[in-house]
Amino acid sequence: MKDVINFLKVRRSVTAKSMASGYVNDDDLNSILSCGIRVPDHGALTPWLLTVIRDEARYRIGNEILAPEFKSSNPKASKEEIDYERNRFMRASVVIGVLSKPVSHPKIPLWEMELSSGAVCENLLIAAQSLGYAAQWLTEWYSYNKTMIREIGGDPKTDKIAGFIYIGNKEKLPIERRRPVREKVIKFLNK
Ligand SMILES: Cc1cc2nc3c(=O)[nH]c(=O)nc-3n(C[C@H](O)[C@H](O)[C@H](O)COP(=O)(O)O)c2cc1C
Repeated sequence: MKDVINFLKVRRSVTAKSMASGYVNDDDLNSILSCGIRVPDHGALTPWLLTVIRDEARYRIGNEILAPEFKSSNPKASKEEIDYERNRFMRASVVIGVLSKPVSHPKIPLWEMELSSGAVCENLLIAAQSLGYAAQWLTEWYSYNKTMIREIGGDPKTDKIAGFIYIGNKEKLPIERRRPVREKVIKFLNK
């Protein structure tokens, strides 16, 4: 178990723009997904849905959603800018969309269901990184796009995208980023 602690203390995301699109083997992907859905979830409501976007689906969604939706909100965008958007999912080998899909419940608040979706994202990220993959949790603009919400099985009126977990190959080790000052974010109450 010490290995888990040692890993979590140094774990680092590799940005989608610096990862390489390659191959995630099926056993690894299954492990990542199993870890992703094994999260705290008050009442075992499973208020989320995961969509694995891989192979040609990465480009299809780029063509059918990312490029046209970007163009419609940015009518003056250049062809290069639109192509950049079209290829966003191609940065990774696999992209897992995590949808917060709350259910109606008499006691468990919506907030707790949404938090559980965040736990799914974090577990996917940790699992992928622990297997040596480059991985990053991104929302970017298209997480807030209704067509994208529908594409991954959601209803824009009630559901939200918690994030897309990009998984690819690690080409080089990422440099450390600024981390919180412990004293500023952790307080102890002793009595
Ligand atoms: C909900 C959520 C959404 C995020 N969306 C973006 C994003 O759209 N663009 C971005 O550059 N980083 C985004 N990030 C930040 C990165 O994924 C990540 O937190 C950062 O690179 C450092 O991660 P690390 O502590 O795993 O190294 C997001 C993080 C979270 C929690």
